[in-house]
Amino acid sequence: MSLPYRSIVVLTGAGISAESGIQTFRAADGLWENHRIEEVATPEGFAANPVLVHNFYNQRRYQLLQNHIRPNPAHTALAKLEYACSQRPDHEFLLVTQNVDNLHERAGSEHLVHMHGELLKMRCMVTELVFDIRDSINVDTVCQCCQQPGNLRPHIVWFGEIPLAMNQITAALQRCDLFLAIGTSGQVYPAAGFNDIARQHGAHTVELNLQTTTAPFDQHIRGPASQVVPQFVDSLINHTS
Ligand code: OAD
Repeated sequence: MSLPYRSIVVLTGAGISAESGIQTFRAADGLWENHRIEEVATPEGFAANPVLVHNFYNQRRYQLLQNHIRPNPAHTALAKLEYACSQRPDHEFLLVTQNVDNLHERAGSEHLVHMHGELLKMRCMVTELVFDIRDSINVDTVCQCCQQPGNLRPHIVWFGEIPLAMNQITAALQRCDLFLAIGTSGQVYPAAGFNDIARQHGAHTVELNLQTTTAPFDQHIRGPASQVVPQFVDSLINHTS
């Protein structure tokens, strides 16, 4: 059975992980887990108070590794869509997530880019080498590449830094004929501009969100990701031409 689209790019944001128990960024109070964004998500915040910033990401990592935090049906549906594309000749699929959790890979997604980094990775600021991490890091942690304390930072893209894999993402957006934005408020660039790039290159663009935003998508589907994403994916996979 054919899919109605040949080249699909999906952008996900915090909303897709909300039903897995991970809080979104822009809560009504404007704080991220009780901290101002500038305090915990900027290079300046890290330079001013590395202990606080390490502790903040240590807590987020600890939370992510709790048993009750699991992929939900929206994550699983995207893995199913990727698999469906992989089974059809000349189809391509790229999942771009702004999320730093690992729920997409745990659901089975493989062709995946973490444009804002990953909680379960740390980076040496001297060599730029990236390492897996599951425990806490702090200002005294000795780096495994340079054997020095104080050189490690969370592998997270902070405000003012350039997101990862932008060339790959831009090329995929320019080629795609379907672009989905799931559970993202569209307030942070460059991700907020992906819809425009895809539309300018002729893609059909769809927003799936709990609350419809004012962004100019061709189609808006409102509802919790765990319901609307599996429904939408099934409608693509079961499409008959
Ligand atoms: P936000 O917290 O800004 O937005 C979350 C979006 O998810 C909102 O539009 C909600 O309406 C929607 N939402 C909430 N629950 C949902 C559900 N169950 N189903 C579907 N949608 C739901 O998060 P992002 O847009 O991901 O960057 O934020 C973008 C970036 O800003 C983040 O990656 C992070 C942050 O600062 C960095 O850390 C660099």
